[in-house]
Amino acid sequence: MDEQILTIDQWNDWWKRDFNKSREKGSGDAEKSQDCGCDDDNPFTQPSAMLKKHIDTLLPLKDRRKRIFFPLCGKSPDMKWMLEDVGVEIVGLECSEHAIRGFYEGNGIDYEVIDAPNNPNFRIFKSKNSSISIFQGDFFQFSAKVAGGTFDAIWDSASLNTIDLQLRKPYVEVMSRLMTKDTKYMLSAMFFGELRTWKDNPFDISDSDMQEMFGERFEWSKLDEDKSEWGLERIFLLSLK
Ligand SMILES: C[S@@+](CC[C@H](N)C(=O)[O-])C[C@H]1O[C@@H](n2cnc3c(N)ncnc32)[C@H](O)[C@@H]1O
Repeated sequence: MDEQILTIDQWNDWWKRDFNKSREKGSGDAEKSQDCGCDDDNPFTQPSAMLKKHIDTLLPLKDRRKRIFFPLCGKSPDMKWMLEDVGVEIVGLECSEHAIRGFYEGNGIDYEVIDAPNNPNFRIFKSKNSSISIFQGDFFQFSAKVAGGTFDAIWDSASLNTIDLQLRKPYVEVMSRLMTKDTKYMLSAMFFGELRTWKDNPFDISDSDMQEMFGERFEWSKLDEDKSEWGLERIFLLSLK
């Protein structure tokens, strides 16, 4: 993915190209008319191994009827896994219409598009037959009022690393207002370290970054880590103090 992608317009252009590519791949072959998003060789189309490993911590079995938030969700395969294998209500938030349509069409899920009741800057792409809704709009304008309430759990993956450094505090502020004291917030954050040869996005998230962003208002601890060719993926569990 292009390292320089930063603005909503740039993200949308990227997703538009991805969407058109997926459609082209599908055309001419009725059997494969949809990009199912489940290419076995591509780790980015598989649900997160860390999410699967720690699902009982994020959502203990007795809580499986709860509502979970996926910030900056793109067309994450984690949402489909959570929807079908875990069976919880999914609420995603994504700026790009093409990413959202790509998620639904790639997974063969019928959806409708409605205006968000509480804010004209958001639309809701809502599954007709299952409990998933994805809000389209700017995360920095999102709120519990727009979402129709706070969340029981949050799975934040591959997102905070892409947020501009000066927007980290506002990001944490918005997130905190989507939570109650009981909300469990699980964050997957990359630390690239010496592998990071580029200047901009995606940025590193170190322990001191975590403390600076979350230390004042959140309890946070590291649950796990996994080293890959892209860097160190670290999983944090957070809650409001
Ligand atoms: C690196 S992708 C992460 C995708 C997803 N979390 C996953 O695990 O596959 C970051 C996503 O954030 C979206 N995005 C960036 N800025 C945004 C904003 N201000 N509001 C909403 N979505 C945004 C982009 O369109 C992109 O889909």
